[in-house]
Amino acid sequence: MRLLALFIALSLPAASYAQDGAAAWERIFAVVSHPRCTNCHVGESGRPAWDDLGYGAQRLHGMNIVAGESRIGAETIPCRVCHISAEGPNDVPHAAPQIDDAWRLPPAELAWRGKTGAEICTALRDPDLNDGFDMEELVEHVTTSAFVNYGFTPGAGRSPAPGSTEALAQDLALWAAAGAPCPDA
Ligand code: HEC
Ligand code: HEC
Repeated sequence: MRLLALFIALSLPAASYAQDGAAAWERIFAVVSHPRCTNCHVGESGRPAWDDLGYGAQRLHGMNIVAGESRIGAETIPCRVCHISAEGPNDVPHAAPQIDDAWRLPPAELAWRGKTGAEICTALRDPDLNDGFDMEELVEHVTTSAFVNYGFTPGAGRSPAPGSTEALAQDLALWAAAGAPCPDA
């Protein structure tokens, strides 16, 4: 990925840099603001969401599911009671989705649901607010995470996040090479 960023850096004239970085951010934002991502990236409330699954807008997870401080629902009903930790086709609409990782919410500081592009952008480039990742690690994370992969291939009856893991990784590298520009708040 370092090579990819370097290649992009060398192949761009300086003036188009900022422009390309801003355009890359717009594409990244279309992904990270999509319900397949924001239904998990919900923040302090610990309440996962069911937006864009056919239950109307701004819909929280049914059955009063709360992830709690553990982020896996250990304090109440664990996510794994319904979300199996093994790869699966997810081909039955409205069945609990499963992936090859423990289904859980991200730490509260990675909240994206209901936030503006400027807010998500400044958090995503800040290691204090992005789980400690530098840009290269962030690119690595999206290419290897079963959660991100799920967002692009969620199975039957669910709209996927726009693009692909490869396109997202490439846009993050492009955005990073341009100095990770963010829109004004
Ligand atoms: C009692 C069963 C049950 C438990 C326990 C449960 N879920 Fe779910 N979950 C479901 C079902 C069923 C769906 C699918 C809803 C649909 O697609 O209509 C779902 C869907 C989701 C979605 C939406 C996925 C998407 O693509 O938008 C998220 C996010 C989610 N669950 C998070 C969690 C988290 C986090 C926990 C643990 C804190 C948890 N769930 C515990 C049954 C459960
Ligand atoms: C089922 C819940 C779930 C879904 C859906 C999900 N994530 Fe995450 N995400 C997590 C968890 C948990 C972490 C914390 C790191 C880890 O444990 O892998 C995380 C961390 C991240 C991180 C690194 C930290 C940061 O800066 O936020 C990125 C980037 C990320 N997710 C991107 C995405 C994208 C893009 C999507 C949609 C395509 C998505 N995630 C969908 C659960 C989810």
